[in-house]
Amino acid sequence: RIAYVNGRYCAQSEASVNIEDRGYQFGDGIYEVIHIHEGRFVDTDLHLARLARSLREIAIPAPMDDAALLVVLREVVRRNRVHEGIVYMQITRGVARRDHAFPRHVRPALVITARHGAAFPRDLASWAGSAITVPDIRWGRCDVKTVNLLANCLAKQKAREAGCYEAILIDRDGMVTEGSSTTVWAVDAAGVLRTRHLDDHILPGCTRAALTTLLHEAGIGFEERGLTEAEFRAAREIFLTSATSFVKPIVRLDGAPVADGAPGPVTARLFELFARHAD
Ligand code: PDD
Repeated sequence: RIAYVNGRYCAQSEASVNIEDRGYQFGDGIYEVIHIHEGRFVDTDLHLARLARSLREIAIPAPMDDAALLVVLREVVRRNRVHEGIVYMQITRGVARRDHAFPRHVRPALVITARHGAAFPRDLASWAGSAITVPDIRWGRCDVKTVNLLANCLAKQKAREAGCYEAILIDRDGMVTEGSSTTVWAVDAAGVLRTRHLDDHILPGCTRAALTTLLHEAGIGFEERGLTEAEFRAAREIFLTSATSFVKPIVRLDGAPVADGAPGPVTARLFELFARHAD
């Protein structure tokens, strides 16, 4: 496997970063994950726009412009011969003597890797998974895609230990925020498709944004309105979206079936819509 590290392509097994990189010491950096389907990036513009926003929000200068970044991304994918999978990019503030405040003269560090993955799932029933709920213990700027993922890792680990795909986070007000690495959607007891409104408590998902456009185009109604934990438990359908989860039905929540325990019709329709969009 070949990685791109600060201007150079190198064997990933030999790639290294400085131990005084602020990403390593402080989690002072941001990242993006783009899905690769049939050798093409899915929703590239959305991911590059979010990357730029993340950088702006924590005042890291862009290491290169979008056109140059795209060239490097494509080259990493080409060198790794990834047809189905993901490309991962990470930008940290750079290398400096350890001090919490921003260093003065430092260049951002850019690392890009690509990885083979399973092809886009075609069968909804076999793609369905289960989830647990856990308290959302993250910080106040979850809209920034930072590499500071400890709370997300702790949540995902709990899900794994429970034999589940995802941990769905419930905030202190008893509202569903998102999954540890996914956007959460539900069809509530009244049949309304809902996902939480965007603010600094959740990451603005690119898959969510793409799906929102598809919903408008298809004339399917939905509301950007968060669910209480009780509403969520009473949902007819639950599904997740992300660059790596696509549209993923959740059919068991905290050990109990969601409705009748099978993917619902709205999830099925959106799964189809998104698959066609990604193709
Ligand atoms: N995760 N919420 C969180 C906390 C996420 O980490 C992600 C993405 C999403 C969905 O965003 P998108 O649709 O743009 O992938 C929502 C990526 C895949 C990851 O960390 O690997």
